[in-house]
Amino acid sequence: MLFDLFLPQRVLFGPGSTYRLGEEAGRFGTRVLLVSGRRSLKETGNFERVAAPLTAAKLEVAFYDRVDPEPSLQTVSALREYAREKKCDVMIAAGGGSVLDAAKAAAGLFFEEGEVKDYFYGREITQKNLPWIAVPTTAGTGSEATTNAVLIDEEDRKKQSLRHPHWLPDVAVVDPVLTMSQSKQLTAWAGLDALTHAIEAHTCRFINPLSNAVSTEAVRLIVQNIYTAYTVSRNRDARERMMQGSFLAGMAIQNAGVGAVHAMAHAIGVRYNKPHGLVCGTLLPMIMAFNLPLVEDKYGALGIAAGVVPAGTEISIAAEKFVHYVQRLVERLGLPSRISELGVAEGDIEALIETITPAGSLKTNPRRVTHKEMEELLRELL
Ligand SMILES: [Fe+2]
Repeated sequence: MLFDLFLPQRVLFGPGSTYRLGEEAGRFGTRVLLVSGRRSLKETGNFERVAAPLTAAKLEVAFYDRVDPEPSLQTVSALREYAREKKCDVMIAAGGGSVLDAAKAAAGLFFEEGEVKDYFYGREITQKNLPWIAVPTTAGTGSEATTNAVLIDEEDRKKQSLRHPHWLPDVAVVDPVLTMSQSKQLTAWAGLDALTHAIEAHTCRFINPLSNAVSTEAVRLIVQNIYTAYTVSRNRDARERMMQGSFLAGMAIQNAGVGAVHAMAHAIGVRYNKPHGLVCGTLLPMIMAFNLPLVEDKYGALGIAAGVVPAGTEISIAAEKFVHYVQRLVERLGLPSRISELGVAEGDIEALIETITPAGSLKTNPRRVTHKEMEELLRELL
């Protein structure tokens, strides 16, 4: 077995860890750029939690609050420009995956001369990145543990990852308190993105002992806590465990990979402008059922590890029960079971397949998906 590992450099986990941001940011200089989405950081009260330690540490703080959901190349260019104008020493990204990914790419390309689009389409990255600190406010993408930024080229309507091995955050401050005010809907969508990461990383073609261990634990944490976090928003234990799960799932995808759900979710998400977690959650049960014959042992073991199937259950039965459990869970979290509810129409299938087929994550899926099978899958899912 051959594998490379990419591990976060420094992670501060736990309720209240945000208080340490001033001290952490101060290690990189005195000028900080705090990056967020347009509204949510202020609406949830998290703005104070993140900004107060910075001002208490007497840092010079500039703010950029114009990152849109599902960030585009344009978003990254504008943020990079602003960070250069402010001559910042460190960028702090406080938000969901969109904010983290936009800041990761802007910090990563801070010293590069070319346009963001050039690097999106393969130009070599040669400069080191501006230091950046990840402060996730959702338990979802795990972007704080990965080297890639998922971006959209709005001109070509293409969604893919831009990545570099050095792009892990210099520090990740993972504070579950920041997720306490997440809406029910966002809790479900982000949480199902994380569950998809954990399951796809556990079953993809490039697994290793580390990804196996962390993805198993991530599945257990998410399966056991997602519904409580969804129904009882201020349950601290559930929020904390969801945050652990999404972080570990991020580590798992970084060191293993994803699969067909992500290949399809990127294509569907960009075409119909739907949030990533919603699309992943909708697709997950169907793709699990499709992959089942090849990964029965793994699904069975995950079902037992997550406590949804009694230990000692025959592995093929355990696997089927686990797939069924995930299907019911997605329903209980209020997601649709059909992709037509996301806007997919029969006439779009061929164009969707064209976008899905070249995706790298389709190649890491445990079961090969032919053109005909993809067509059948999409039709079945309508
Ligand atoms: Fe994802």
